[in-house]
Amino acid sequence: MATVKAAILGFGTVGQGIYRIVNERKEQLAARTGAPIEIAAILVRNLERPRPDTPGVLVTDRFEDILAIPDLDVVFEAIVGEEPAGTYLEQAIAAGCHVVTANKVMYAKAGASLEAFARESGTGVGYEATVAGGVPVIKTIQNLNLANSITGIQGILNGTSNFILTKMRKEECSFADALKEAQELGYAEADPTNDVSGFDAFCKLMILSGLAFGEQPDWEHVPMDGIDKLTLDEVIDADRQGLRYRHIADVRRGEDGEILASVGPVLIGPDHPLYGVDGVDNAVAIETAYAGTLTVTGPGAGMYPTASVMVEDAAVLLKQPFRKLVTD
Ligand code: HSE
Repeated sequence: MATVKAAILGFGTVGQGIYRIVNERKEQLAARTGAPIEIAAILVRNLERPRPDTPGVLVTDRFEDILAIPDLDVVFEAIVGEEPAGTYLEQAIAAGCHVVTANKVMYAKAGASLEAFARESGTGVGYEATVAGGVPVIKTIQNLNLANSITGIQGILNGTSNFILTKMRKEECSFADALKEAQELGYAEADPTNDVSGFDAFCKLMILSGLAFGEQPDWEHVPMDGIDKLTLDEVIDADRQGLRYRHIADVRRGEDGEILASVGPVLIGPDHPLYGVDGVDNAVAIETAYAGTLTVTGPGAGMYPTASVMVEDAAVLLKQPFRKLVTD
């Protein structure tokens, strides 16, 4: 039985999760996809930094070393920021690899062109992990948008923000302490600015907009706010009135066909579908033409939820009869 060779770019929380799941689920993955997956190489930024043992795996800080691996099939990308991630994935596709990414900033900007390039190249792109961690929202929308259609989406798309708001409300915990805990648990980004400013949820919303409506609104015209301006008093006062602040990303088609979107804290009551979503959970309420509003909920960040949907993506791509390119 041939082996599928994979590389992991980035060995932080998510990268380590991919390594663990591929190894823990070796037999299951081989049975489902037809071939065992072997992690052949890992790209790290700093070779000196302590990291878990990965016997027999090439660990390098040079992407050229990854591309030089003969017959590489899959590249998992779990690094932060638009570049060099986008360029690495383009080069991996050009070399005939399937790519699977969790990179929302990069994918919000470059996802459509990356997918088109992969299609031309006979490979595939998996991006379930870019939005809502372990919640299969991409697959759900893809499967609701063929005969049915999406009219609007409202989501809690940043696990860190929801975790902080929940701790503030339930435990009267300060913003700073709740954020520190979210960082310790591996929910927040290494630099949590994008989490608490709303930009992380914004990028995820843009990805959902492209998927549901085939286009994104003009980024400059989308109002965006984070939870960083909410005070503990405001959160607790709202709770006493039976209301909750949720950080909500919203996108829909307006009456004239334009895409309307917004990202920011919203005060909602118990009848709202996102009222009961606590902790690191994300939830996406998908409004459809034929099936009403469907809400999918689950862990929006963390090692195993995020890494598991990336390995699922790879398994789906490997099961499909893609034409592998022979590159020189
Ligand atoms: N920092 C992100 C969050 C991780 O808190 O939602 C998942 O994208």
